[in-house]
Amino acid sequence: MSVAVKISESALTASESPSRDQDKPVVSVRSLSVEFPRLSGAPTVAVRDLDLDIRPQEVVGLVGESGAGKTTLARSLLGLPPSPGHITAGRFVFDDKDIFGLSAEGIRQVRGRDISMVVSNPRDELNPLKPVGEQIATVARVHLGLSRREARQRAFDILKAVQIPDPERRMKALPHELSGGMAQRIVIAIALVCSPRFIVSDDATSGLDVTVQAQILQLLKELILKRDSSLLFITRDIGVAAHFCDRTAIMFKGEIMEIGGRDSLFLTPRHPYTIGLMSAFCHNDRLRQVWSTQNEQIEVPAGHGGCPYADRCPNASQTCLDQRPELKQVAEGHYVRCHYEVAR
Ligand SMILES: Nc1ncnc2c1ncn2[C@@H]1O[C@H](COP(=O)(O)OP(=O)(O)OP(=O)(O)O)[C@@H](O)[C@H]1O
Ligand SMILES: [Mg+2]
Repeated sequence: MSVAVKISESALTASESPSRDQDKPVVSVRSLSVEFPRLSGAPTVAVRDLDLDIRPQEVVGLVGESGAGKTTLARSLLGLPPSPGHITAGRFVFDDKDIFGLSAEGIRQVRGRDISMVVSNPRDELNPLKPVGEQIATVARVHLGLSRREARQRAFDILKAVQIPDPERRMKALPHELSGGMAQRIVIAIALVCSPRFIVSDDATSGLDVTVQAQILQLLKELILKRDSSLLFITRDIGVAAHFCDRTAIMFKGEIMEIGGRDSLFLTPRHPYTIGLMSAFCHNDRLRQVWSTQNEQIEVPAGHGGCPYADRCPNASQTCLDQRPELKQVAEGHYVRCHYEVAR
């Protein structure tokens, strides 16, 4: 579905899209680990030694089952790991700035203005008592130092850009007066109003019906391209990632198991977990049977230091319990963390 996006000049001026080296990552995460302490025993490692680069105008999907560590990663990039989690190692360089090296105030300034996040529960994010136009304008005023009038104009422009019908009237609406799809657009408008260079969408469209979801994704993509931003798109639905993302990372127990461009990853998936996820979404019983059947040939002891997927993997062998696999390149831009990656 193609949705035309009209953005007025004040919502998108040339100065908001400075020309940059399109091959140089704007987002560069290196060796990031995030842990949650436990009352007794070793902490839970929710993100482990993770590397990720995202280039300008690129949409990178992050797919994995519940508990994979997607939200922990996303929130850590905003300097807000879910409490009581904390970042134990790693660097996050955004637009040549070492984000984890900034003071709390420094990160607060970046968040919302340069990096923003869209989440799945818009009604929890919005103030129920304040008109939505005012909520959008406040973000612009705080982060961009605009006057009330300028901020209102900017809020109005962004409401038009996210295709809210009758934006003049909607500026004055309270959140409960909007449909779910419209409330989601308001949250996207808030995330985009400062023209951030990096947006993280955490499962933001999964609660919407399919046509609204398709429209909003299309809109997000067009805005990302026009504003020269980058998007990390988190979803549990590998099918949505296949349609929408330029590259996709498959995450399991805090690690990226496979990452690649759309064609390479989805036409020739190489990790058994990726294939398992794909088969779960297709109606091929034989495929599902092969790739979701547990391997009963080996005994997998708890706390082994090998592959995190070993206890679920139909191909696991003793090597998988003894050695942690590294990410290795299997094609251009396509990497897999598996001792016995699936042949093409
Ligand atoms: N507040 C918390 N306290 C303790 N442990 C947590 C907390 N939040 C997350 N974790 C741990 O971190 C792991 C990753 O959680 P996270 O919420 O990042 O997963 P997710 O991939 O976003 O899952 P979902 O798809 O359900 O949103 C969990 O399995 C859990 O062990
Ligand atoms: Mg989550």
